[in-house]
Amino acid sequence: MSIRLGLIGFPLSHSLSPAMHQAALRELSLPGTYELLETPLELLSERLGQVRREFCGVNVTVPHKEHVIPHLDGLSPEARAIGAVNTVVNESGRLIGHNTDAAGFLRGLEEAGIEYRGKRVLILGAGGAARGIAFALKPHAAEIWIRNRTPIRAMELAEEFGLMFVPEFSLEGAVRECDLLINTTSVGLKDPDTSPLPEGLLPQSGVVVDIVYNPPVTKLLRDAQARGLRTLGGLPMLVWQGALAFELWTGREPNVSVMYKAARDRLD
Ligand code: ATR
Repeated sequence: MSIRLGLIGFPLSHSLSPAMHQAALRELSLPGTYELLETPLELLSERLGQVRREFCGVNVTVPHKEHVIPHLDGLSPEARAIGAVNTVVNESGRLIGHNTDAAGFLRGLEEAGIEYRGKRVLILGAGGAARGIAFALKPHAAEIWIRNRTPIRAMELAEEFGLMFVPEFSLEGAVRECDLLINTTSVGLKDPDTSPLPEGLLPQSGVVVDIVYNPPVTKLLRDAQARGLRTLGGLPMLVWQGALAFELWTGREPNVSVMYKAARDRLD
């Protein structure tokens, strides 16, 4: 039987997911397809009906990771705690929501040999991506500090997950002292010459991670590299969240190198 997979989001034109998953299916000789299912909010309910009838599973991306939840029949413990779903598995007509962004982020760090256990982490941003990453790191990091353009969102997230809110006046100290700085905002994605940090401000010796994968090296990462800091872009998180989703749908471990290559070929 053919494995029908897809991606729900809006808009979707630049997605690397079809190339990654089709390459993984092919490499395992599994018959299947991965389709772009561009879906405006008003058609989300209808789309999930179609998924229930016709698909083995789907990924969910911006802006629907939270909107899909009321349409599902169950949630994994991670998806429930994070409050966002990026993977839906069709279990005999029951749609179960999972979140592989959180575990995918940690796999990316581990693969790169970046230590997060016992570290002081500063997260920039307080949206869905920040929630997943904070949830993943919370049991392992020494402290997690969180800063956002709109402070109330960071305060609320800090309260909910037991993080430390960083007000504007202590941003400089937090940046300089952190061991791991993670940009989860979309700054740098829309404009490759902008950074989420004020000019010249960088950690003294920490690792800098940006979850933006296009461009592969954002201004934040360029600035950090120019200071001699270790950096990691967003591609590992993208590939690993995909690999973990693939495993949930098919019960098979995909070849991650094949997925990296397919994604990189599309980025070039
Ligand atoms: P995602 O699910 O990708 O995290 P999101 O929930 O829309 O998306 O969150 C986007 C994050 O990027 C937010 O932290 C947002 O800050 P606000 O809460 O203040 O909106 C941040 N962000 C987006 N554009 C920004 C900008 N120009 N400057 C600073 N932060 C920005």
